Amino acid sequence: MIDRIKEYLKEVEAFNSTEIQEIEAFRVSYAGKKGILNGLFAAFRDVPAEEKKAYGQELNALKEAVSIKIAQLQKEAKSGSGKKQIKDPTRTAFPIESGNRHPLAVVKNRIIDIFTQIGFSISEGPEIEDDWHNFTALNLPAHHPARDMQDTFFIQTDPDVLLRTHTSSVQVRHMENNQPPIRTISPGRVFRNEAISSRAHCIFHQIEGLYIAKDVSFADLKQTLMYFTEALFGNSKIRLRPSYFPFTEPSAEVDIYWGLETETDYRITKGTGWLEIMGCGMVDPNVLENCGIDPEEYSGFAFGMGIERIAMLLYQVSDIRLFFENDIRFLKQFKATL
Ligand code: DAH
Repeated sequence: MIDRIKEYLKEVEAFNSTEIQEIEAFRVSYAGKKGILNGLFAAFRDVPAEEKKAYGQELNALKEAVSIKIAQLQKEAKSGSGKKQIKDPTRTAFPIESGNRHPLAVVKNRIIDIFTQIGFSISEGPEIEDDWHNFTALNLPAHHPARDMQDTFFIQTDPDVLLRTHTSSVQVRHMENNQPPIRTISPGRVFRNEAISSRAHCIFHQIEGLYIAKDVSFADLKQTLMYFTEALFGNSKIRLRPSYFPFTEPSAEVDIYWGLETETDYRITKGTGWLEIMGCGMVDPNVLENCGIDPEEYSGFAFGMGIERIAMLLYQVSDIRLFFENDIRFLKQFKATL
């Protein structure tokens, strides 16, 4: 009997594996309920009295060896330090850092998330647009003075091919191809021939919102905007200032109450406590008609905001150019789950 235990002990000491399954099979065969150890302990009863002491000692030594072996192999298999570990000689010696999303993508995704939760779809359109979708269909016929509000990049000399100046062009495309009810948001890159400064860039991003159905009112617009600002800024105190956009009537600019708690608050709100975050309004009946929707039957609202502007407010970034320089020291500071 004692010799059998000694043989088991040798077997245990010789056993080696980095495979979790093999280690588990080893554990079951020795330390499992119906395993070798329990069998040997059960046999203790039948061991002659004079051998009981030696038997007990050997058996305890075997038990100890088994538990040490299992613990050691499990640890090695987990940490990958076992002999079978694959070494990759082509791997760089420098630590590899995992990247993170660009802050503009983080903000865009948060905004998308907020609107998709209340049933808005996402729609996209081309960055190179024609005059109809960027201007004319949006109630900006040729020679309309409001065209000057947006300094347009034209492609070569063809005045009908341009870089879209706003994501409102996607509204037009979406309405041309879909019948109400329409609930959609359109994120995208836009272009304007503007001098680059800390506050403006010739390439930036917008998100457009559009809701068309029966009996949509200005109150629906305001409630949707309050839901949005509460979700993004944790603050639904907003005000709507009368404004003008050719594609909406009435039009408004949306301000959020930022407060006047710090010196920065004073500076960025110019001492008023209010900050402008977007433009909005009730879609002009001419626009609905241009897109094949009957304005007698349907009404709707639209809004548009600059993603850089929102990101600058959320993260207190004072220079828009930082978003485009891709300086890793700047980008590294933004972590997101979306
Ligand atoms: N397109 C406008 C701009 O680029 C923003 C805007 C204002 C969009 C009002 C809208 C809106 O949909 O209703 O300045």
